[in-house]
Formats: sequence, C-alpha cells, structure tokens
Amino acid sequence: MTTVTNAAFPYPLDLSRHARRALLEGPTPIQLLPRLSRELGGVNVYVKRDDLTGLGGGGNKLRKLEFLMGEALAAGANTIVTVGARQSNHARLTAAAAAQAGLQCELVLTRAVPRDDFEYRENGNILLDDLLGARVHDLPGTANALAFAQARAEELRAQGRSVYVCPLGGSSPVGCLGYAACAAEILTQAQAQGLRFARIVIPNGSGGMHAGLAAGFAALGIDPSLVLAYTVLAKTEQAYATTFEKAGKTLELIDPARRIEGASIVIEGAQLGDGYGMPTDAMREAVRLVASKEGLLLDPVYSGKAFAGLTQAVRSGRFTSGENVLFIMTGGLPGLFAYRSAF
Ligand SMILES: Cc1ncc(COP(=O)(O)O)c(C=O)c1O
Repeated sequence: MTTVTNAAFPYPLDLSRHARRALLEGPTPIQLLPRLSRELGGVNVYVKRDDLTGLGGGGNKLRKLEFLMGEALAAGANTIVTVGARQSNHARLTAAAAAQAGLQCELVLTRAVPRDDFEYRENGNILLDDLLGARVHDLPGTANALAFAQARAEELRAQGRSVYVCPLGGSSPVGCLGYAACAAEILTQAQAQGLRFARIVIPNGSGGMHAGLAAGFAALGIDPSLVLAYTVLAKTEQAYATTFEKAGKTLELIDPARRIEGASIVIEGAQLGDGYGMPTDAMREAVRLVASKEGLLLDPVYSGKAFAGLTQAVRSGRFTSGENVLFIMTGGLPGLFAYRSAF
C-alpha cells in the first residue's frame, strides 16, 4: 500500500516516491481486548499488533526498516551500521533485515542502562544479534555511538565496502515514513471495522514512531494530537523537541506544503521513572496485567511503561466508559529475558 485515498480522511498519502523494501506481510491486526477492557471499567481497549510482524522476532522497527533498507539498497549498500543500547530491539531487527537482504551488519551498542549482570549483558536481544550474524561493538554508556558508527563506516569504506549508517532507533525522517504509512493503515482499518478511536497510545523512545504517526496524520488531514505518547527515554521537554522536529522533517518528505502544529505533539513523562531501561512498579503491573488477562506480552522498556500510562489514564477518569482507545503493541519480547530479575 503506497497511496491511500479514502472518504474518511481528506487528503491522500502518497509515499510511492520513496524506495521501500517490503518487510511486513500486510496490515497488522487491530484487536479488542475484552477481558482487560472489563477489568479497566468499560473503556474499550484495542491493540494494534505491530508485535506480530514476522522477521527477526518482530516489532515496530520493521516499519521504519522498510524505508531505511529501501534507501540503503537503492544507494547500493552492502553493509549497514546502526546504533542503540545493549538490548536495542531496533539493532536486532536491523540485523534481521540485513541478513534477509544479504547485507553485512555491524551494531554499535552502548551500556546506556547501568547494568552489567549476565542476563542483561548476554541474553535477550544480544543473543539474537549474534544468531542473526551481526558484529557487535560494545561501548560504555557515555560513548558517542553515532560518532563511533560514522568512524567505523569510514574504515569499512576504506576497505571497499559500501556502507549505510542508520541513526538511533531508525528514526531518520526516511525511517519515520514507516509510521506515516501506519497512520493511513490505522485509519483504513478503523473505517473497515466501524471504529472511531478517542486516542492512540504509544511509547516514545527515539521519537520516530510518534513523529511518523504525527506526520502521517497531518498529511491525511487528521489532528496528530490523536496520538498520546509516554516518554520512556528522554525527559518530556527533550522528547517533545526531538519528536516535533522529526515530525516536521518527515512531513516535508511527504507534503512540503503542510506543517505540524506544536500543540499537536502530546507527550507525558509520568512513566519514565528513574530513566531509560529502569523498571518501575507501574510497568511491572502493566506487563503482568496484559499477560494474565489477555495472554499478550508487553516489553519492560517501552510498551510496558506506555501501557502503565494507559491504565493510569483510565483509572484517573481521563477516558470514559464506552470510549475506544488503541494501544500500539510494539514488540520487544526478547527484552523480557534480559529483565528476569525485574519481575
Ligand atoms: C519495542 C519498542 N517499542 C517502542 C519503541 C519506541 O519507538 P521510537 O524509538 O520510534 O520512539 C522501541 C524503540 O526502540 C521499541 O524497541
């Protein structure tokens, strides 16, 4: 699906100018969680199952990687280098996408989370990075991963390789196009299922998913404040600044005539706790709640914290009984195995 035109939203979304490598099988399902909705007092909680994307264990980053890999392959790259934290899901999925396309992959991973226990260091995503054939560079938490990645890319180029460097979280404007496409996908599905969502709730890490959705909705003529994000990485003001900037740049790629209003980027900071990758009680409760009521697995770093935000918003009366709320399940299941001790 590259062009979406629909009576429900005023403007078409045309991404056909941008190179894209298909990594998803098609739209991910939107499902009602009936037992959880009852538990939360009658708000209808729906999930968009972006955790069900197939490659490399699945997750939201495959949407960005469709456009990032498209750009890399169009440029003739045979090697991809990206950055992230030691347990980065984006790094794992970049390794998977590279393996599938026959590209070499190098991951520059920092100890951004202050842990050095075995399960964090060696299990979860890092185990999968190794199985997927990526070379991992292990850097301290204070290191500038992108600078290291760029220097490494130069080294590889000097050896004759053609290298594509992908930023944190895959959240360049090109990567964010993946979630602009998802905005159209959600509206199309909502219309087909006869649903209207009061809010779409997501985690905000590097901000790319939020920026892409915001740009997509703005391009489609829908107010991007439909998206309510919980920051899990940066402090609220920083997350807002990054997301607003990325959303604007992404929208420029789609329709330079349009602008994002500052007030349409909505980010809350109450779920960050002690910082990125640091467990909170609300996250633990949310992960257990969704698992035990619906058999679905959130992750401890991103979706667990955002879902905690959703449950607290419901309990504080922010959503009313009968309203439909959509939560994007972003994947990240391998992270649970690095967080055994948190549960
Ligand atoms: C499982 C999961 N959910 C959500 C996010 C957040 O996405 P973004 O970095 O685009 O804000 C990430 C990012 O790494 C992730 O791995």
